[in-house]
Amino acid sequence: MASVNSLASTLQQQLADALTAALPEAGTADPLLRRSDRADFQANGILALAKKLKGNPRELADRVTAALPASELIKDIEVSGPGFLNVTLADRAITETLAARAADGDRLGIPANDAAGTTVIDYAQPNVAKEMHVGHLRSAVIGDAMVRILEFTGESVVRRHHIGDWGTQFGMLIQYLTEHPDQLDHEGGKKDGEAAMSSLNRLYKASRALFDSDEEFKARSRDRVVALQAGDAETLAMWQRFVDESKIYFYSVFDKLDMEISDPDIVGESGYNDMLEETCRILEETGVAVRSEGALCVFFDDVLGPDGNKVPLIVKKTNGGYGYAATDLSAIRDRVRNLKADTLLYVVDARQSLHFKMVFETARRAGWLNDDVKAHQLAFGTVLGKDGKPFKTREGVTVRLEDLLDEAVERATAVVREKAEKVGLSEDEIVENGRYVGVGAVKYADLSTSAVRDYKFDLDQMVSLNGDTSVYLQYAYARIRSILRRAGDAKPVAHPELELAPAERALGLHLDQFGEALAEVAANYEPHKLAAYLYQLASHFTTFYDQCHVLSEDNPAEVVENRLFLCDLTARTLHKGMALLGIRTPERL
Ligand code: ARG
Repeated sequence: MASVNSLASTLQQQLADALTAALPEAGTADPLLRRSDRADFQANGILALAKKLKGNPRELADRVTAALPASELIKDIEVSGPGFLNVTLADRAITETLAARAADGDRLGIPANDAAGTTVIDYAQPNVAKEMHVGHLRSAVIGDAMVRILEFTGESVVRRHHIGDWGTQFGMLIQYLTEHPDQLDHEGGKKDGEAAMSSLNRLYKASRALFDSDEEFKARSRDRVVALQAGDAETLAMWQRFVDESKIYFYSVFDKLDMEISDPDIVGESGYNDMLEETCRILEETGVAVRSEGALCVFFDDVLGPDGNKVPLIVKKTNGGYGYAATDLSAIRDRVRNLKADTLLYVVDARQSLHFKMVFETARRAGWLNDDVKAHQLAFGTVLGKDGKPFKTREGVTVRLEDLLDEAVERATAVVREKAEKVGLSEDEIVENGRYVGVGAVKYADLSTSAVRDYKFDLDQMVSLNGDTSVYLQYAYARIRSILRRAGDAKPVAHPELELAPAERALGLHLDQFGEALAEVAANYEPHKLAAYLYQLASHFTTFYDQCHVLSEDNPAEVVENRLFLCDLTARTLHKGMALLGIRTPERL
C-alpha cells in the first residue's frame, strides 16, 4: 500500500510554505486553495492576509510567487484580480500522480487515517413482529454506506442493529401464542421471509383483537410481561421464537437489499436488559436523574412543553418499567466501556432527534460521554411519495418494503432488457443486472440527497438513464469497461511526457480528488457528497469521451494508451466509490 499525496495537497503545502517564507509575520496561513475555471487552482488566502497585515494584496502575491521553490508541479502561476493566485499544474505532474494511484490497487493511493479510532454505528434497526418500513430502509442504506466508508478510511467499526425486541407488547404476543400454539407455523414448513412475516402479522392482529376485547386475556398478558422480565424460562423460549421468526424476515429483506447483516451484530433492546437497573441507580445516585411524580427523570433547561414546563427524559416509569431511554443509556455504557468506542453514530429518523439530544446530554452529565467519547445522530428525513406526502399506497397504508424493492427491480430489469440485445446479455445476466440496477437505484436515490432532508420516492426518476441516478453511473462504468475490452492489444499505460487536452486535465484532476472527497464524507457523515463526487466524475468522463477520441486509428499509440489509462482509472474509481455506497457496478450493461 503506497499512499499518494494529491496534487491539491502538495500545492497547498508549497503555497503555505511560500506564504510563511514571504511573510514571516503572518505565521502559518491558509492559502485557501480552490479548483477554478480559469486555471487549475486558485488561491484566495492572500486577500485576507493583506487586510490583516495592512499590505497591498497584489504586491504580497508577487512576493509569495517569488518565494515558491522551483518545482516540477507548477507550470504557470499568475497574480490576478485583486490578489488571487491562479495556478496551472504541469501535465507531467498530473499524469505521474495518477499513475502512482493506478499502481496502488484497490486503495488508489488513498492513505488510511492515522488518527482513526473505534466507531460503533447503530443502524438497520427494525422491530420484532412488525413489518419493516421505508424509514428502516433509509437507516439500513445510509448506515451500510457509512460502515463501508469509515472502514475504508481506517476506522474500526462495530455494527449494532438495535432491533426493537423488548417491551410490553411481547406479553400479549407470547400469551396468545401460549394459548394458540400452532399459530407461528408456516404452511408446508416454508420458511421464507414473507411467510414468516405474514404469520407474525396474523398473530399480531389476532392477539391485539383479543387484548382489546377480553379483560381476562389482558390480565394474563400483563402477567406474561412480568414473567418475561423476571426471566421465566418458558416465557423466554416463546419470546425467542418471535425473535427467530422475525429474523428470517429481516434477513430476507436485507438480502433483497444486497446487504450483509450478521447475527452477532444484532444486539437488540433486550441485550441491555441486565444493565437497566444499574444504569438507573447510577443516574439517581449521581443526581443526574431525580424522582418526579414517582418516575425517575432527567430535566433540561431547554426542553420545554407547550405549557412552558420542562419535559423530562423518563428513565424509569412510575410503575417501575424501563423504557426506550433507559435502554439507550445502557447501550451507551456498553459501547463505551466494553466496545471501547470513541465515537457513537446513530443512523436514526430525525423524528427521534429530541430523544437522542436528551439521551446524549444525560450521558454527558453522567460522564459516559465526554471530550474523548462523542455521540452523533446521523438523522434522516421522511420518505415522501411523488405527491410530497408521507409515503403510502393509494389505499393509504404504508408501503411494504419488499413490494417496493420488487417493483424497483422489475422496472430496472425492463430498462436493462431494452439494451440487452445490443450488449449481448444472456437471460441470467439480464436478471442479475436488473437486480443490481434496481436495488442500486433505490439506494442511490436515498444516498444522493442530504440525509436530513425529506426525499421523494419516485421510481420513474430513480431508474432513469439521464440525470443524477445510479443507472447513469452504472452505465458510465459499463461503457468504460467495454472500451477497455474493445481496445484489444492496446493496454492502459500512463505517458507523463504527453500534453493533456483540457478535458483530460479536468478528468485527471477530479480523479486525483477522490481521497479528499472521501475524507470529508467520512468526517462529516455525508454520503451524499460521495454520490455527488461520483456523478461529477461520470460527467467529466462523458466530456472527455466526447472530446478526446480514445480508440481512434489516427491517434499515436501512446495517446491511445494514455487515454486508456485515464479510462481505467476512472472505471476503478467509479467502481470503488459505488462499492462504498453499497452499489454494484456490472461489467456489461
Ligand atoms: N427500532 C427503532 C425504530 O424502529 C429504531 C432504533 C434506533 N436505535 C436506537 N438506539 N434507539 O424506530
